[in-house]
Amino acid sequence: MAELRALAFVPVDIDALATAEGRIAVFITPDLKLSAGARRLNRLTKGALARATGSEAWEKMSEGKAMTLAWPVGLQAEAVDLVKLSRRPSPELARKAGAALAVAAGSSAMTVLVEGTARPEEIALGVALRGYGFDDHKTKKGDPFGPATFMCTKPEEAEAAAAPRIAVAEGVHFTRDLVNEPANVLTTTEFAKRLEALRALGVEVEVLEEKALEKLGMRALLCVGQGSDSPSKVVIMRWKGGVKGAAPLALIGKGVVFDTGGISLKPAAGMEDMTMDMGGAGVVAGVMHAVAKRKAKANVVGMVGLVENMPSGNAVRPGDVVASMKGDTIEVVNTDAEGRLVLCDVMWHAQETEKPAAMIDLATLTGACIIALGHENAAVYSNDEPLVNAFLKSAETEKEGAWRMPLGQAYDDMLKSPVADMKNIGGRPAGSVTAAQFLKRFVKDDMPWIHLDIAGVAHVKADLDLSPKGATGWGVRALDRLIADKFEAKD
Ligand code: BES
Ligand code: MN
Ligand code: ZN
Repeated sequence: MAELRALAFVPVDIDALATAEGRIAVFITPDLKLSAGARRLNRLTKGALARATGSEAWEKMSEGKAMTLAWPVGLQAEAVDLVKLSRRPSPELARKAGAALAVAAGSSAMTVLVEGTARPEEIALGVALRGYGFDDHKTKKGDPFGPATFMCTKPEEAEAAAAPRIAVAEGVHFTRDLVNEPANVLTTTEFAKRLEALRALGVEVEVLEEKALEKLGMRALLCVGQGSDSPSKVVIMRWKGGVKGAAPLALIGKGVVFDTGGISLKPAAGMEDMTMDMGGAGVVAGVMHAVAKRKAKANVVGMVGLVENMPSGNAVRPGDVVASMKGDTIEVVNTDAEGRLVLCDVMWHAQETEKPAAMIDLATLTGACIIALGHENAAVYSNDEPLVNAFLKSAETEKEGAWRMPLGQAYDDMLKSPVADMKNIGGRPAGSVTAAQFLKRFVKDDMPWIHLDIAGVAHVKADLDLSPKGATGWGVRALDRLIADKFEAKD
């Protein structure tokens, strides 16, 4: 498991720079107004800092990026990273600058000379988010990440502002670890076990086994897992940090630990990527981790459906008709459209038992979503303007791509079945929309709801600013912010 690097906030001590170990980072404004620490570093390095920042390469470098002085004379440090950043950077630039430092540092210890630069908490978040690796299954492990020490003009203030951001970074790492894990390790049983570990943070965790799901009538969810040797489960996580008895926000996640497609088997090429098909459940777990860690004054319930979609002699067949917990019957035309079958029962159960104030589901639901929006944006569907606008604002603040998509009767009509109340696919056109439309049939009237199709954003093949390639943890930050802004009791 990737450990978050230790982060500390201390007063500025420029006399300590000469002997600091590892790497030193310093922020230089675009107009080259050097801080006291930068001036000291320039003196110690016999003017190397000024020569670097006077270069054409520096001139051309964009804000938030870093230039490295390796093995500088006059210092014990192995390198000085010069970051171009204004004194009042946007949160996004501050995070990016922190991330650039983490990339440069690798596993080395870091002394980050923040001094008066605003938003040290966002710089720290960038350092924390980008300092991530997943090498559990390599025999040769990378070195553990060295600590990062932030020298700030107001260290207590910085530390207080950073605490909730570090909590959210831990949540993101928790999500990434789950999503990166292969399916032979992260079975439904192992997934449930890792969620049970959230009890240590004060989260109530309840695991519903197949027998209980059967009793509840979750035939749609159960039919997906019936071809697998791994037992299907629903895990309920409750964080009760808000007003006692107040209706919670419900977060619902698709947790298909591996999606072969079932009898409607997927082609071999790329099937290995379907280890990430539990990404929705992974994000729900990460948000629960974050809100518990920062002791959010909110009631949040996370509910995830954990199943494996395998072909076998017992597997659900194309053409089978199953009854959902709600009672509506579903013709399973394509066993690869399994996520919606899992979600519809979990969503119904959440509404019946938790009476939530609002419900947000997340799922790596459709390939069509990737065709529509690529890896830049998650697809956002909603029946509630205030809720969705608040979410889009949170996502924009965190710079997690999210794009509103349409719903409508004509799309719903595409789900008509000759033998059951609905079929589980709507055909090739608008595949992400008809999947959302399917889910909407399981949302009660007056229940504010958002569906997030995260197929394109949960896992990517190239490094991003804030995450190395692989699982991104998309959505943990946006949802944590939504909870902080809209679902938390203010004191
Ligand atoms: N898990 C997939 C969707 C997916 C594809 C996620 C690629 C991430 C990357 C989902 O269960 C699925 O197979 N959807 C089908 C639906 C179709 C059969 C209507 C799809 O998108 O092809
Ligand atoms: Mn599928
Ligand atoms: Zn799937």
